[in-house]
Amino acid sequence: MCGVVGYIGDKQAAPILLEALKKLEYRGYDSAGVAVIDGGEIGVKKMRGRLQLLCDHTHDGLDVPGSIGIGHTRWATHGEPSDRNSHPHLSNNGRFAVVHNGIIENFRQIKEMLSGHGYVFYSETDSEVISNLIEYYDQGDLVKTLLAAVHHLEGSYALGVLSLDQPDRMAAMRKDSPLVVGRGEGENYIVSDIPAILSLTRDVYLMEDGEVALLTRDDIRFYNGYGEPVDKEIFHVTWDVSAAEKGGYEHFMMKEMMEQPEALKETIRPRLRDGRIDLSELKLDRDWLNDLRMVHIVACGSAYHAGRLGKNLLEKYLGIPVEVDIASEFRYNAPILHPDHLLIVISQSGETADTIAAMREARRRGVKTLAIVNVVGSTIAREADHVLYTWAGPEIAVATTKAYTAQIAALILLSAYMAQEKGLLADEERARLIAALEALPEMARQLLDDKERVQYLASQYFNHNDIYFIGRGIDYSLSLEGSLKLKEISYIHSEAQAAGELKHGTISLVQPGTLVIALSTQKKLREKMAGNIQEVRARGASVLAIALEDDGNIEAVCDHCLYVPALPDAVQPIITILPLQLFAYYVAALRGNDVDKPRNLAKSVTVE
Ligand code: AGP
Repeated sequence: MCGVVGYIGDKQAAPILLEALKKLEYRGYDSAGVAVIDGGEIGVKKMRGRLQLLCDHTHDGLDVPGSIGIGHTRWATHGEPSDRNSHPHLSNNGRFAVVHNGIIENFRQIKEMLSGHGYVFYSETDSEVISNLIEYYDQGDLVKTLLAAVHHLEGSYALGVLSLDQPDRMAAMRKDSPLVVGRGEGENYIVSDIPAILSLTRDVYLMEDGEVALLTRDDIRFYNGYGEPVDKEIFHVTWDVSAAEKGGYEHFMMKEMMEQPEALKETIRPRLRDGRIDLSELKLDRDWLNDLRMVHIVACGSAYHAGRLGKNLLEKYLGIPVEVDIASEFRYNAPILHPDHLLIVISQSGETADTIAAMREARRRGVKTLAIVNVVGSTIAREADHVLYTWAGPEIAVATTKAYTAQIAALILLSAYMAQEKGLLADEERARLIAALEALPEMARQLLDDKERVQYLASQYFNHNDIYFIGRGIDYSLSLEGSLKLKEISYIHSEAQAAGELKHGTISLVQPGTLVIALSTQKKLREKMAGNIQEVRARGASVLAIALEDDGNIEAVCDHCLYVPALPDAVQPIITILPLQLFAYYVAALRGNDVDKPRNLAKSVTVE
């Protein structure tokens, strides 16, 4: 979970590398480094700590001469954050430099083999074996050498490689780790994520697993795993540069929360056509759809929480059993899979290792896979049988917001579309749903604009050390997400509980002053929730309720209440989660935390 970048052109490379690394820091930020070829040498500047330290140390790269270079921002997996474990790593002879994102699973064996040939290792990382393996297999041709070296690697890698013997070119390669090549005028780039080079170019090549790219100032060539030339389509990115900038907000998270109306509009509207739901982009076979017997939904973190809502939607609209699983559990639980099943994977980044592995497991066992994913060209998007994109745009803040609500919208569209195609969706039901979906962006806008009340309540509670969320049914799944949002950026201990389960144990933790956030947005469960709220209040808890505007009784049983508009059950979660996202944000900001880059976390978890 690191960020990789490379530049080759006529300008000084280091300042450009550092600027791009700033936009990759959400991928990992415990150390950073650059390597640049100049005057017959590869100059390396790398150090532990935030990228800013390296910028200060090199005067924003101006102290590092040379116009071809690679850069890296790290999230430690092998070897704790330190200067010597930072990337780039030089080969023993100093003639090759490598930056790596991913994990080399057989690095110990390789290290042993190379040590037997006299190689010395200066770091504890897995990545350093790559630079020495390249030296070991050096054939004087960067592409041939790289292919010979990676042939011995097991695991995942996105690589940027410099060679002193071929100082006019740079090589790159990817396997199970994201890497994109950018085409410029007289200069070219490699990068882990498109937003980081959007200010430099909009023309990119999406690399396939096992492909090598060879970049010079004026040319880019691609080769497959056998070293044979490969032609590739250029992909013109339409995202605006500001997508990568904060748009005037203090944090990317607030910017992305406020972008939810647009993200919902982008995700929903292209799929509503002539009073019908149109997901023909999925190319689902109608016979297959009619024979579909079961659905499995698999994902991690917030995407898993969206998946829980997907289970309710698919079971409601299709009337077939749906199982929802955490990917890291699913893949080792020997799931019961049959060809007449469907596996839906959900992922913002499209690069989450456990979700990828779960998808590959299902495919290996002949089960169709459908991915709901946000990043175009990501591994999941390219490997799934069917892909339903959430058009939420790039999401930079580690805590997902707009991608999560866009995922729920995608699940609503998918469930209703499959029911429509199977003739199970009544016209009035569809008309009601489409009307609610079309009204959603504006509803979200109004609620997000009215955020001051949430900010006030956060100022009342941001010093609490334990906060519990309770809810029933859909509200329980939303409580899980509300609690995760709070935990990951505020560092407050928080748990989400099915409200009816409290009295079977967790209520023993409730004492005077404990904050309980109670979600009560389903009319049929209001009475039950009122009872659960009184249970915790009787133990002295303070209760902040999230309730529907037409709930006339909730104020009698809680200390504070945040109201949300009452909508059809299917779309209600997208609105109900908004005040919980805002609450988490304001609490974290009031506690002075780094809201966009919370400790110990990274935006996409590309290792197990
Ligand atoms: C959520 O805010 C976190 N960033 C995390 O739980 C995330 O949802 C999880 O890692 C899954 O990521 P993905 O959607 O990119 O697969």
